[in-house]
This record gives sequence, C-alpha cells and structure tokens, in this order.
Amino acid sequence: MTSGLFITFEGGEGAGKTTQIKRLAAALGNCVVTREPGGTPEAEALRNAFIENNGQNWPPEALVMLMFSARILHTQNLIMPARMNGQTVLCDRYTDSTRVYQGYAGGLSLEKIEAIKELAIGGFEPDITFVLDIDVETGLKRADKRGPGESTFEAKDMAFHERIRQGFLTIARENPKRCVVINASEDENTIAEKILNVVKLHWHNRGDGHHRQLDG
Ligand code: TMP
Repeated sequence: MTSGLFITFEGGEGAGKTTQIKRLAAALGNCVVTREPGGTPEAEALRNAFIENNGQNWPPEALVMLMFSARILHTQNLIMPARMNGQTVLCDRYTDSTRVYQGYAGGLSLEKIEAIKELAIGGFEPDITFVLDIDVETGLKRADKRGPGESTFEAKDMAFHERIRQGFLTIARENPKRCVVINASEDENTIAEKILNVVKLHWHNRGDGHHRQLDG
C-alpha cells in the first residue's frame, strides 16, 4: 500500500488554518485531521498544561521540551501509523511552529532547536507544508473576532507577531521543495482551490518519481 501524505499548515494567528484544513479534508476524503501541540490524549494533556498555565511566559527552553515531548507521542502514536495505513494526515502546526515561536520570535537558537528535534523525531519532516501568510494586523483582527480562544501568544506585541511572520517566510524560502506560501488574504474558495491543486500535483509527481525509480 502507498503511504499517505503528511501535510502541515503553518502561519501566525488568524491566518485561517483551521478553515483550510477542513476544506482540504472534505475534498480529499480518507484523512486524519489533527493539531499540535496535541493530537493524542497524552499530547493533549501536555497542551492543556501549556495553555492552562499561561505557557507563553515560560522560558523558551521549557516550551521546546514540552512541544517536542508532545510531538514524539503524536508522531509515533498517530501520524506515522495513519500514514502507513495509507491515510493522508493534515496537521495544524508542527515543528516549524517551534522553530518560529520559540526560535525566531522566542529567541532560542535554531541550532539548539534542531538538536532537540533530532533527538525527538530524527529527520522526520512533512511532505508538504502550507504557510498561510497574512499581514499581522489583519491576522490579529481576524483572531480577535473568534473571541477569546486558546491562542496563548495572541496578546504579544506587534513586533513579536512580525517576527513570527518573517520566521515562517524564511523557513519557506529555505525549504522550497517542502513549503508553499499561500496568500491568506485572498478569499476562502480561491485559497482552498490553490491548496488542493498543490496536493494533487504532489501526488502526480510522487507517482512519476516512483515509476522512474522502478524503471531504474
Ligand atoms: P493554535 O492556537 O494554533 O492552536 O496553537 C497554540 C499556540 O501554541 C499558538 O499560539 C502557537 C503555539 N505553539 C508554539 O509556541 N510552539 C509550537 O511548537 C506549537 C506547535 C505551537
């Protein structure tokens, strides 16, 4: 059986990740929809520890440890088995959020984050990452309309959110094969269509690569 794709959605607050994940899941069928931090009962318990204790004030080192503890459990117990089972996994945030929130914006060095990542999940990365990009002000307004949610970093200042945005764009530039930047200020249908096209193209090219390999 062909393994399923692992697709992640990244971006700052109010970028519309949740809506687009739902749309893609509906279009593809046979998907597992999940999120980070969280996704399995143990990892959701770690998420609650972070949110209920106002985790944005913790040292970034503590946050990285928590994020990767949750990520190990989530990856081993849900993401990998689902992919092996041929299901496509759609995940709201993954390692790029740690690189950006705790690294680019939180001040921890990327080298340290990569070292912990290596220990936790080795070289495991998503097949496709959609970076939903929106200007900070519009994103925060949208997030505000949702009401007081769980997004613990929403209350931070504009400079922090700008570092988040630029961090995601830098990662996308440095990983052009994996990352696709989507202009999240466009209308919902246009974005959904673009995302679906990228996924279809990826499937198509993956099939080609497989044949080329088989043909030697
Ligand atoms: P959410 O609001 O998208 O559900 O994410 C919860 C918060 O957790 C969000 O503000 C970003 C933050 N976060 C990190 O700081 N590091 C991480 O590794 C992840 C996955 C999320």
